[in-house]
Amino acid sequence: MSRKSIVAGNWKMNLDRAKARELTAAVASRAGEAAGVELVLCPPALYVETVGTALKAAGGTSPSGVALGAQNMHDKASGAFTGEVAPPMLVDMCCKYVILGHSERRTLFGETDAIVNAKTKAALAAGLTPIVCVGETLEEREGGRTDAVVTTQVKGSLAGLSPAELEKIVLAYEPVWAIGTGKVATPQQAQEVHALIRALLGSLASAAVAGKIRIQYGGSVKPDNAADLAAQPDIDGALVGGASLKADDFLGIAKAFG
Ligand code: PGA
Repeated sequence: MSRKSIVAGNWKMNLDRAKARELTAAVASRAGEAAGVELVLCPPALYVETVGTALKAAGGTSPSGVALGAQNMHDKASGAFTGEVAPPMLVDMCCKYVILGHSERRTLFGETDAIVNAKTKAALAAGLTPIVCVGETLEEREGGRTDAVVTTQVKGSLAGLSPAELEKIVLAYEPVWAIGTGKVATPQQAQEVHALIRALLGSLASAAVAGKIRIQYGGSVKPDNAADLAAQPDIDGALVGGASLKADDFLGIAKAFG
């Protein structure tokens, strides 16, 4: 089953407007280096317009170019939710993707599987592609609970989605202990969990649907470890934090998935 690899840059709460513009232009002008790989930039919400404008100037936000994504959103389409961003607003700003349930959202901002589930449904209803993140902590891994934790997160985050909806999402397996630590999961460790997630998706929909869903790995992905991860059969791309802030590193990773 051939799946188009997807490499997304999660800029988190970094850069300023000028640097966001500069990085976008650098990535967009060199996107051809990673031919065949879908590239996504996820800037802070306030710079989505800046990045979208820079992508358009470089011919992006199109099927062949670099796509725009957000790092989070609310699950309601509008209303009295001070400080929040609604799914239709992201669509309005040309976002195609939205990262949901990132471990920083789960641990620092109290997002539960139920919240991630509501956001996932809202993203799909708005026409966005959710990148739904799951992953265990070091304590959970060392306690032999990785499979159970990831299974609960996947089932909870995707509860009630039809096979047609499941087919549209992207999943990201990000072991919490590997995020921003420089400690990458071994390709074997990552592949084992990716295979588990795909089997789980098969039980939620069908093997055919599961075979179409892209599962990214995230957590200290760098140009020098990306190729080994990309070689695994169930790793279909990367969700990149720190290394996405440098065009060379981000493109180096993307190339490995080409
Ligand atoms: P990292 O972050 O690449 O800096 O480890 C990954 C992520 O949080 O998505």
